[in-house]
Amino acid sequence: MTIEQEIARRRTFGIISHPDAGKTTLTEKLLLFGGAIQKAGAVKSSKIKDHARSDWMEIEKQRGISVATSVMGFTYSGVKINLLDTPGHQDFAEDTYRTLTAVDSVIMVIDCVKGVESQTEKLMEVCRMRNTPVICFINKLDREGQDPFDLLDEIEEKLSIKVRPLSWPISMGKTFKGVYSLYEKSLHLFTASKTVVEEGIEISDIQSKDLDNLVGEKNAEQLRADVELIEGVYPDFSLEEYAAGHVAPVFFGSAVNNFGVKELLDTFIRIAPLPQPRATNVRIVAPDESKFTGFVFKIHANMDPKHRNRIAFVRVCSGCFERGSNYYHVRQAKSYRFSNATAFLAQDRETIDEAWPGDIVGIYDTGNLKIGDSLTEGEKLMYSGIPSFSPEIFKEVVNRDAMKSKQLEKGLLQLMEEGVAQLFTFDVGKRKVIGTVGALQFEVIQFRLLHEYGATMEFLPQQIYKACWISSADERKLDEFVQSKLRHIARDKDGKLVFMAESKAWLQMVQDNFPDIKFHYTSEFRD
Ligand code: G4P
Repeated sequence: MTIEQEIARRRTFGIISHPDAGKTTLTEKLLLFGGAIQKAGAVKSSKIKDHARSDWMEIEKQRGISVATSVMGFTYSGVKINLLDTPGHQDFAEDTYRTLTAVDSVIMVIDCVKGVESQTEKLMEVCRMRNTPVICFINKLDREGQDPFDLLDEIEEKLSIKVRPLSWPISMGKTFKGVYSLYEKSLHLFTASKTVVEEGIEISDIQSKDLDNLVGEKNAEQLRADVELIEGVYPDFSLEEYAAGHVAPVFFGSAVNNFGVKELLDTFIRIAPLPQPRATNVRIVAPDESKFTGFVFKIHANMDPKHRNRIAFVRVCSGCFERGSNYYHVRQAKSYRFSNATAFLAQDRETIDEAWPGDIVGIYDTGNLKIGDSLTEGEKLMYSGIPSFSPEIFKEVVNRDAMKSKQLEKGLLQLMEEGVAQLFTFDVGKRKVIGTVGALQFEVIQFRLLHEYGATMEFLPQQIYKACWISSADERKLDEFVQSKLRHIARDKDGKLVFMAESKAWLQMVQDNFPDIKFHYTSEFRD
């Protein structure tokens, strides 16, 4: 196969949702269609359901499982699908943001009872930053949910994206009859089946009496009225608008009943974008360029503390990755031979010989690779777009065993490289402060530092509201600002200047007083 053909048959995407909307269930059904698993219940959920204190122990146990389910590759209708798992727990949101940099599109699951929830809003913001195309799957139609038109309005309003229904539910809850495909003009009658998929019944004209016979007169009338309204209110579905991330096509179904999932998947492989060109610091790289390039978007520490090797997840962006070849590590300006690359196929990992744009390769690494690193065949380019976001909780690291300060340093560095949390080092006194988006990470960090590195430490709470990366068009002004706020100035992992604001009100005041300074909530910004 040529590289163009390899690219044309690949789709790399992620499923995002608020916890409990049905992401795991939908993933499982998609894998069933791909023949990647044989029975329902085979996908171990990597989610952590509640905030109980013992949760972090569970996370440790699940780390092994979540490596296996991080990337699931399968083939459906001749298309190679790479599904990237995103942690559902909000404390791991940063991990999800980074994973989203490695996909070409997203399926968003929304619970029809609960509507758009907070985590979905945050995740959608990340998609919008990158104009990632989104398909919506409104789930749990077997329950009494909100009115479908209200749900569409809510999506448009809360997620700031236009929608275009491609299927439409006929009633819901106990009286749920099925969905009508506006795209294919066919009717799918609801059956609660975990695996069997009923073929759609073609309804070329919804005015036909057949519809009444199939779903009852009242439902048929309602559907006709709804379809008329949809056709009147929503513009025709435009592939270009979807590809540009401006319009989200919407499907309705019930994942647990395997209903509406096949239509979703069939449409997905038809409309979802192929591996796309990607921006670097020097130029845009097209996937069909002959030379291999890729970047690391996730690092996973090995479970075995004695062997501190890790798996770096590399998204192939162009060319062909060949096992055993030498590739150029741009940040270190060094070549390495990658002889132990792994591909991800459903829950198994297997050694691979080559990988194409859109594929994810797992590389065993002893500490050379960091999140955001680029690999090439020699060209000095760095993939952009893997920002750090301002954390929400901050704590100072205090060493409790002076004999182990080296181990603590090393452990902290490696955990930060894995992206577990962000480390900020204050200019004054070299105080080390860790920032996370959730409280759980602190327990994970403390536990892992002790068990993997033998370092005993404690966290001291900090009065910090936000970490703002700062810049200014005027170097002198920036210098002056740094000098006047020295006690609040820290450096991130790359040595970038960060202002640690103590409160919202104070940040506002400082912003007003220093109009020449720009305050950014993410580490990647353009002046
Ligand atoms: P998540 O990964 O997004 O967190 O959600 P998950 O798939 O685990 O689904 C959350 C709960 O919602 C599960 O129930 C699941 O069975 C249920 N669910 C998923 N799809 C549907 C649907 O279409 N209709 C209905 N009624 N329920 C659905 P649970 O009780 O938490 O777990 P389980 O014991 O059923 O596995």
